[in-house]
Amino acid sequence: MDRKLARAVLKQLFDSPLKDRELLIDRKKELDFLERVVNFQPGGVYGICGETGVGKTTVLNFIEVHEGVSIFLKLSEKDSKETIIGDLLYKLSRQILMKEKGKLANHAKKAIDFVLRERESSKSIDGGLSAPVNVSVSKNKSFREKFNVYEAYEYIDSLLSTLLDKHERLLLTIDELDKERKDEVLNILDSLKGIFEKEELIVIVSLPFSIYREYSKDLLRWNESGNLENILKGLLFVEPLSAEQIRQMILLRLRDFPEIFDGETLYDIAMYSDGNPRDALWIAQQIILHNLDKDRITHDLARRTIKEIVNRYFKGFFTLTDLQKQVLKAALDYAGDRQNLVKRLEKLSVKRQTAYTYISRLKDEGLLIEKDGKIKVSGKIMFLLI
Ligand SMILES: Nc1ncnc2c1ncn2[C@@H]1O[C@H](COP(=O)(O)OP(=O)(O)O)[C@@H](O)[C@H]1O
Ligand SMILES: [Mg+2]
Repeated sequence: MDRKLARAVLKQLFDSPLKDRELLIDRKKELDFLERVVNFQPGGVYGICGETGVGKTTVLNFIEVHEGVSIFLKLSEKDSKETIIGDLLYKLSRQILMKEKGKLANHAKKAIDFVLRERESSKSIDGGLSAPVNVSVSKNKSFREKFNVYEAYEYIDSLLSTLLDKHERLLLTIDELDKERKDEVLNILDSLKGIFEKEELIVIVSLPFSIYREYSKDLLRWNESGNLENILKGLLFVEPLSAEQIRQMILLRLRDFPEIFDGETLYDIAMYSDGNPRDALWIAQQIILHNLDKDRITHDLARRTIKEIVNRYFKGFFTLTDLQKQVLKAALDYAGDRQNLVKRLEKLSVKRQTAYTYISRLKDEGLLIEKDGKIKVSGKIMFLLI
């Protein structure tokens, strides 16, 4: 295909936070929930979780705030609680500096200086730039030892209070905590709990996938400590989109290029993605990149490309036993519940108990997916098997 056309198509399929609301597929339920919280609740910390790429950041970006001020922090530093708290303070201060003047701006500037000074002094302990060996490792270690996290808490506390004094209501969104380990995130939120308990302050954080289960168990009183319920006033789980919605998403993005993919190809893209928009965009891009010499992507071509890609990327991870293959193949041309799949396998002379065990394990490993009571083979694995 024409070079210019290829670039234009790839741009439309590029994975980046949506700016254009017209391209947003659904998420009405999620936005309703969040907008109710943001615009009506008196305060509290709320979570949003779901697998990476499912659309958490996207949903957060489209929340409409009716009153007060809204601050969006995209954390990027990893490694330790101290680094993350430091990053939070730094980003919060930068945002304030961009939006505010006078006292608040001065305060934010002081906080930025504080974070930079702490980093600088911990770096110089290691010899700073003159000791390039292992700098990144030792830097973090000494940063942890040196960083005055209590002073950082005080800054966060006073900045938030001053913002609230001025604007009366504040939405603080903290994104990218979903990339951290669950325990670490809980630890951080727990330590910030007191600071976030302010009237008219709403905090929304993106959380790792696994927190949802913990939270549900807390609500059911299955966990002894019930700690999450103490930290979060509510939690939103973002589900994958349906296959049809994924199709719509690609169609909408490529509305100026309707000839590129044929209809069947979109089904394969949706199947591969299992409803994850990021995966769908990624594989759609890959299909284009692998076929730059073609004018139109036929179904046959797309399927060959997807198979080639899953073989390259995923095959090494799984060495499937014959029995595992048998279970997956049985699940492949079947869409029903677990019991019926077991019955099917029994007919193929797999013992009942073995069938149950295998299904459970394949599910834990993500090769089988159970949704709305139905079992299906993960899209990626499916392309390895067909
Ligand atoms: N509902 C949606 N409609 C259209 N595109 C979406 C939707 N949700 C996510 N995307 C796209 O999918 C990609 C991943 O979404 P993102 O919000 O970054 O996921 P997460 O934050 O959960 O990792 C982005 O490129 C985004 O534009
Ligand atoms: Mg995100």
